[in-house]
Amino acid sequence: MQPLAHCEECRRVFPMTGTEWWRTAVIYQIYPRSFADANGDGMGDLAGVTSRLPALKSLGIDAIWLSPFYTSPQHDAGYDVADYCDVDPRFGTLTDFDILQRTAHDLGIRVIVDLVPNHSSSDHPWFQAALASPAGSDDRAHYIFRDGTGENGELPPNNWDSVFGGKAWTRIQNADGTPGQWYLHLFDTTQPDFDWDNPWVREQFRDVLRFWLDRGADGFRVDVAHGMIKETGLPDYTPVEGGSMGGATVPDLGSIPGAAPTAPYWAQDGVHEIYRDWRLILDEYPGDRILAAEAWVDPLSHVAEWVRPDEMHQAFNFAYLETPWSGPTLRRVIDDSLAAFGAVGAPSTWVLSNHDVVRHASRLALNHENLQGHGIGPNTPDLPDAVIGLQRARAASALMLALPGSSYLYQGEELGLPEVVHLPDSAREDPTWFRTNGERYGRDGCRVPLPWEAASPSYGFGPSAASWLPQPEEWAGLARDAQAGVAGSTLELYTLALRLRREHALGLGSVEWLHGHADEIVAFTNGAVTVVANTGAASVPLPAGELLLASGPLPGNTLPGDTTVWLRA
Ligand code: NOJ
Repeated sequence: MQPLAHCEECRRVFPMTGTEWWRTAVIYQIYPRSFADANGDGMGDLAGVTSRLPALKSLGIDAIWLSPFYTSPQHDAGYDVADYCDVDPRFGTLTDFDILQRTAHDLGIRVIVDLVPNHSSSDHPWFQAALASPAGSDDRAHYIFRDGTGENGELPPNNWDSVFGGKAWTRIQNADGTPGQWYLHLFDTTQPDFDWDNPWVREQFRDVLRFWLDRGADGFRVDVAHGMIKETGLPDYTPVEGGSMGGATVPDLGSIPGAAPTAPYWAQDGVHEIYRDWRLILDEYPGDRILAAEAWVDPLSHVAEWVRPDEMHQAFNFAYLETPWSGPTLRRVIDDSLAAFGAVGAPSTWVLSNHDVVRHASRLALNHENLQGHGIGPNTPDLPDAVIGLQRARAASALMLALPGSSYLYQGEELGLPEVVHLPDSAREDPTWFRTNGERYGRDGCRVPLPWEAASPSYGFGPSAASWLPQPEEWAGLARDAQAGVAGSTLELYTLALRLRREHALGLGSVEWLHGHADEIVAFTNGAVTVVANTGAASVPLPAGELLLASGPLPGNTLPGDTTVWLRA
């Protein structure tokens, strides 16, 4: 019989395990600006996505997650939403969304949309109304406005810094031109934070959820799912230096002696009430709709709180993403992930790249720490070696795709795309770059438009040569059509891994460690498949068994460093 969890508070009973699609799904992240451009303006669009869905079908993914395509001035690439229920003209129309979704569903691909509830764009009519209304009004109360400190309110209400650099507060001007109150923005000044203690805000977002669920969306990736509730009184806080989004590597362990105190704007207990409320809404709809949390908190047992049986379904495993390519650390994070998520009946997720981090084909070859959001660029010392990076990335992806649970892929990793390091300063768009005066390169290097066809202008990204970020010349060789059907290409490696993963039901399996290997070898069985990853430099003898997949060449029956194999056990 299936194990059940009883929720005392909500008096409901939940299955702790199951075969719902999201427990094992491979979910492919589409960054609409950079995926495919149907109209040739240099910016990707929804019609472009639709036209390329057959390629994703043949890759073998189960679902797509679309980063924001909503009405937005694009000060943070769409994570600054000015209308939660419409499509920005740059990306198309609601009809284009419907066509995309129908095409995906016809191909058996589910569609997850991005929800950005922590903040809106400052162009949003709700924020514009707040600006036009007096201090203390209902409209102001939708956001976090406060009087300044100092003799004349000339200093911000507290010392909080923005994730993107600079202060987290901006002072407004009153209608008569005199300086007014300050508003909170954990991100860019164009991204004012909502006040989630206000029931009105909660009501608006219930409507937004219903809008997309009614349209047929299969779920939501929830942006900054650890940030919506702020500690009462907004106390001062000086963070430990860490990744921008809160950092999975920086302990956020308020309860552990000696650990850094919890930031008063991350991981406050009150966020969970919001997700319990949303879960009830999702459960009204047929078809296993899901919520996936972007919550940069540590440790994994804390992240697991977001996926308790009556909350979300999945949470991104950023601890895994941030784990260095080394045997002992990988074994530990895999064990910790399976234990932490398993304890609440949720599948573990796995992820190596997304639109906020240095692509793993470059990151895994870095010889120094690179904090999330800082990026790499021309002046970064000791730039990663492209050959080592790609070899490690292929080995790391082959390892990840053999793990039980659900995996996220970021567009272009199936082509082995590296981070683009040599972007001209004039092309950069990430607010991080501007708010730190170029001290942090930010995230543009992982957002360069995809190469589809080696011989076409913009490498087939669109019908013209336009591309909102310039594509490097070397990308001709990495284009999808240069890899399709080519034995040993990264695209063929991913395609094979996804097919074997499905055939052997690896997503539903388990990890049984194989002992007796050197420390740098990660070796386990998952059902009938034995997985061996050599994270070291030296070759080791190839273990016995029928070879199913290899992330690189296996000269003379050896398993070289930075290589993963799957064998039939
Ligand atoms: C997380 C998103 O992934 C990132 O791209 C964005 O800048 C911030 N949240 C703010 O919305």
